[in-house]
Amino acid sequence: MNFTPDFKDQFYSLLQARRSVRKFKPEMPSREILERILQAAMEAPSGKNLQNWRFFVLTGAKRDAYLSLSQKSWLGIKDILEKRLKPSLYQFTERFFYTLGDAPVVILCYSANDSDEKHLTSVGSVYMAVENLNLAAVAEGLGCCTMGAPLEIKAEVDSFLGVENLELLCAVVLGYPDHTPPRAPRQLENRVRWL
Ligand SMILES: Cc1cc2nc3c(=O)[nH]c(=O)nc-3n(C[C@H](O)[C@H](O)[C@H](O)COP(=O)(O)O)c2cc1C
Repeated sequence: MNFTPDFKDQFYSLLQARRSVRKFKPEMPSREILERILQAAMEAPSGKNLQNWRFFVLTGAKRDAYLSLSQKSWLGIKDILEKRLKPSLYQFTERFFYTLGDAPVVILCYSANDSDEKHLTSVGSVYMAVENLNLAAVAEGLGCCTMGAPLEIKAEVDSFLGVENLELLCAVVLGYPDHTPPRAPRQLENRVRWL
């Protein structure tokens, strides 16, 4: 496929522009936009092309009800974060878990594991889709934050959704950004070895 140099520059700019957004405007993205983003997620490659991702999209009352679970997941990780984060960031993070930054949409991302596939391959396939979802959100003028925190309360999230025989991997909270987070520094040393 031939992409123009402009397109290539824009693509790399998009990768750089993606940030974890933790504060959102109240406007709800349209169903059309959400469907496009989910479609982009499902363009991802997957082991044996099993397309083992499963997404649960929470909006409205269901999203509001999920907040109490998010608050519970905070209790599981707050002690670790209290030691790692400076007090202002700790408080911001606590507030984020309590409000999810007012994100109007929460997408819970699951893997349908298959006995014919390695577990890590199944998990990795879902995360490939989650990254597509993150990038499509940026392309649509939205922001999102991928969250591993719900793993603290996996069983409760499963029963909240009525899910069986799927593995919860993460949540993605999504909406129109209401802040511009600074770029989190990237460490390039010792990440790549050329042989
Ligand atoms: C698998 C995964 C789990 C994450 N879990 C959380 C989380 O539970 N809470 C949170 O605030 N951010 C979470 N993040 C976001 C990271 O903190 C963030 O990606 C990292 O600090 C780099 O910042 P950036 O995304 O703005 O580049 C998670 C990211 C990934 C990929």
